[in-house]
Amino acid sequence: MKAVVLAGGTGTRLRPLTLLGNKHMLPVGKYPMIHYGIEGLRKAGITDILLVTGREAVGSFAGYLGSGREFGVSVTYTIQEEAGGIAEALQLARPFIREGEKFVLLLGDNLFDDDLTPYVEAYEKQPGGAMLLLKQVPDPQRYGIPVFRQEGSIARIEEKPNNPDSNLCVTGIYMYDSHVFRLIDQIKPSDRGELEITDLNNVYAEAGLLTYRELPGWWTDAGTFESLKEAAAHVWEQNE
Ligand code: G1P
Repeated sequence: MKAVVLAGGTGTRLRPLTLLGNKHMLPVGKYPMIHYGIEGLRKAGITDILLVTGREAVGSFAGYLGSGREFGVSVTYTIQEEAGGIAEALQLARPFIREGEKFVLLLGDNLFDDDLTPYVEAYEKQPGGAMLLLKQVPDPQRYGIPVFRQEGSIARIEEKPNNPDSNLCVTGIYMYDSHVFRLIDQIKPSDRGELEITDLNNVYAEAGLLTYRELPGWWTDAGTFESLKEAAAHVWEQNE
């Protein structure tokens, strides 16, 4: 399976640090943030990776990851000219994914301990639709949170809800097939003018085509100072 890694955006929640450069190149322990996602994909046997980032940042990613050879993967790059949302960035991966092919979409600020292999295998067997990985969190208001139907399937996802339905959040690890690109064409920009990943996932949810698994191990998105600190503490602990 291939992976699309999104590493663009403006990183507003990590200002002023992100005035110096791209969020995903900030240090987390010994390595830049992006290192961990690439390693996590490689461990699951996902070695064909497209990295989407901004024009001003692509040089630093290319400098660090190069072709991917030292990491045991192959990395190619594409440019998102303006921050237009996660689903808009994903649309740029259209030429990278062949018709009928399945892939992992990883937000580059997501760090996780679990081996993704069983989830990738489960999605390979799934006849269609998309799969999300969920994680229990203490602060669900910060994330996309599913609303479940009585029988346990996802009815819809609410983005950063004031009154979350549960404390299970949607992580930035998603699985789709090439059909997703046609669905992105159908969604409209949100009030903030972006193509939202949650709106895309809600197209699947409404059709009853959105499955999920819960991640048992440690996970964080390192997009805020608090979570960046937690991520750094966790990886330092593991390296000692
Ligand atoms: C994005 C998604 C959100 C998801 C989160 C996971 O939020 O919109 O649904 O829970 O990633 O990292 P953002 O971090 O862009 O606010």
